[in-house]
Amino acid sequence: SDVCSSDLTGNIKAQDILLTGLEKLEYRGYDSAGIAYFKENGKISIRKTAGKVKDLRAICDDNDATCGIGHTRWATHGGVTNANAHPHKSGSVSLIHNGIIENYHELATTYELEDRLISETDTEVAAALFDKFYDGKNPIEAIKEVIPLLKGSFAFCIMFENRPGVIYAVRNVSPMVAATSKEGSFIASDLTAFIEYSKRYFIVPEYAILTMEADKIDLQDLNGNTIEPEFLEVDWDMTAAQKEGYPTFMLKEINEQPAAINRTIMPRIKDGLPSFEEDGIPDSFFADCSDITIVACGTAMYAGMVGKTLMQDILGIPVTVAIASEFRYERPVITDKSVVIVVSQSGETIDTLEALRLAKTKTNKTLSIVNVKGSSIARESNYVLYTHAGPEIAVASTKAYTVQAAAFYLLTCKLALVQNAMSEADARAFISNLENVSDNIAEVLKLSDKVEQLTKRMLNASHTFFIGRGSDYTLSMEGALKLKEISYIHAEAYAAGELKHGTIALISEGVPVIALATQSHVYNKVISNIREVKARGAYVILLSMDEKITDATICDTHISLPKVPEQFAVFEAVVILQMIAYFTSTGKGLNADQPRNLAKSVTVE
Ligand code: AGP
Repeated sequence: SDVCSSDLTGNIKAQDILLTGLEKLEYRGYDSAGIAYFKENGKISIRKTAGKVKDLRAICDDNDATCGIGHTRWATHGGVTNANAHPHKSGSVSLIHNGIIENYHELATTYELEDRLISETDTEVAAALFDKFYDGKNPIEAIKEVIPLLKGSFAFCIMFENRPGVIYAVRNVSPMVAATSKEGSFIASDLTAFIEYSKRYFIVPEYAILTMEADKIDLQDLNGNTIEPEFLEVDWDMTAAQKEGYPTFMLKEINEQPAAINRTIMPRIKDGLPSFEEDGIPDSFFADCSDITIVACGTAMYAGMVGKTLMQDILGIPVTVAIASEFRYERPVITDKSVVIVVSQSGETIDTLEALRLAKTKTNKTLSIVNVKGSSIARESNYVLYTHAGPEIAVASTKAYTVQAAAFYLLTCKLALVQNAMSEADARAFISNLENVSDNIAEVLKLSDKVEQLTKRMLNASHTFFIGRGSDYTLSMEGALKLKEISYIHAEAYAAGELKHGTIALISEGVPVIALATQSHVYNKVISNIREVKARGAYVILLSMDEKITDATICDTHISLPKVPEQFAVFEAVVILQMIAYFTSTGKGLNADQPRNLAKSVTVE
C-alpha cells in the first residue's frame, strides 16, 4: 500500500503533530489512516480506521506519548477496511509501510506466518517477519536479516515494544526524508509533514537503517558501517503548501501558474537566449542528439507530448513519447546518441523511475524534468532540470504541467540553436514569446467566471469528448484526463480528423465536445470536424484565438483566447481546460483536491 507517514520521537506530545502531519500528507493517499505510539509502560497503542485523517482524529484519545508513527493509505493489497489500515502490529513489532512487497505470499508461506495474519496486506506480513526475526534484544539485527528477504519497494517505520522513544526506519525505492529539530526527530514520505519544524533535512539513503531518537538519528548500512546524512535546505516555506485563501489547493495552483512559469524560465534565460549553465547541462548534451524519447506518466506524459510536437516540428529529428509503464517492456530503440527525457512532478513515480533506470543502461544522455528537489528521479538521471512550481498539493496536476511544458520550450530552443535548426534572431524571438506566456495565462485566468458558467451544461454529462489537431490534440489529452480524474465524467481525447472513422457514432444530442482550434494550418479542417459533431447534436465549446464566432452550426459557446503566436497557445488553452475540469468537479460538489481512488504520487507499480 502506498503510504505517507509522519513519524516523530521528541520532547513534546506526539499525537497532534502526527495527525497534523498526516493531514498535510493526505493528498498523497487518503483511503484510511492510523497512528501508533508508545504508552508510559513501553507498550504500543494503535488507533486506525478506514476513512480520512479527520475520522482518525475522532477515535484518538488524548495521551502524553512523545513518540509515534502515523500513516495514510492508498490501497494496493486488500480493500479499504479498518483491518487493512496501517499501522500493523505483530507480536512486539508495530510498523507502517509505503510500497509493495512483491513476494509477500511466499514469505508468509516460507516462514509460516499465515496463522498470525488478520489483514489482506503485504505490510502485515512484513510486520510478522520482523517480529519472527526479533530476539527481543536487538531490533537492528532483525532488520538486517529481514531486508534481504524482501522483493519490491518499501519504506518502513518500525517500533519495537518495550523500546520506548525509538523508531527504526529503512527504505528501498519508496521516498523517505528525515530531520531533527528542538521539538524532536522526524521521518516522513514528504517533507511537507515536518517543514514547519525544520527546513534542514536529509533524504534517507536506500538500505540505510535509521535509529531515530528524540535528539538524534543514527544511520548505518546493512553491514553496520555508520553513514553520515547529506543535509539539504528546503527552498520554499510552509505557506507555499497552504491554501492562502483559496477554497482548494487546485484553484490556488491554477492561479499560481504565471508565477510558477516565471520562476522556472527566468533563471534559464541569459541575454535573451536559453542557458542551462546553472543546471550543469553542457551544450555537448544537446549537440550529438540523434533522436529523443520522452517518458512519463499521466499529466507529465501529456506535457511530454506538447514537447514532442514542438521538438519534432523545430528540430526535424524523431521524437517519441512513451508511457513509462509500457516503455519498460516494449524493447525501446535507444542508442548512445539518444536523449531520454523523463518527466515527473514528484520525482518519485516508480513507473517513471524504473523507465529511467532502463534508459540509463542504453544511454548516458538522460535528463529529468522534476519539480521536487533531491527526489529519486532527479538524483538518478544524468542531468536534471528542476521546475520551480513550488509544492503541488492537489492530486490533479496543473501548474506542474505548464512549467514542464515551459521546460520543453527552453530545451527545444537550446537544441535548435546547438543543432543550427534556428537562427539566433529567431531564438531571441522565441524566448521573448516564452517570456510573455505568464501574462497570457494571467489574461485567461480572468475568464474563470465565464468558464464556470459554461460548465453548468456539463454537470450531468456521462461522456465528453476533447478534439483537436496537432498541438491541440495533445492538449485534448490533458483536458480529458483533468476532467475524468476530478469530475468522474468519462472523457476521451480524439484527433479531430479521426472522429469520422468510428467514434462519431457516440455523438448524440447534448454530448459535450470541447474543441480546440488554435493552429491555423489545420484550422479549416478542425472547423469542418466540429460542424460534423455539431450536426449530430453535440454541445460544442470551442476554444480559439478568433475574436468571436457566432455561427451556431459551429459551436454553442466560443471562448476567445488572447491572440498569441500559435506555438505558444498551448499555455493559455490548457488553463481553460483546467478550469473546465475544476468547475465541473466543484459544480458536482466533489472534492477537486482529493478525488476518489487517486493519490498524488504513485510510488507503486
Ligand atoms: C495528473 O493530474 C495525475 N495526478 C497523474 O496523472 C500524474 O500526472 C502522474 O501520476 C505522474 O505523476 P508525476 O508527475 O509525479 O510523475
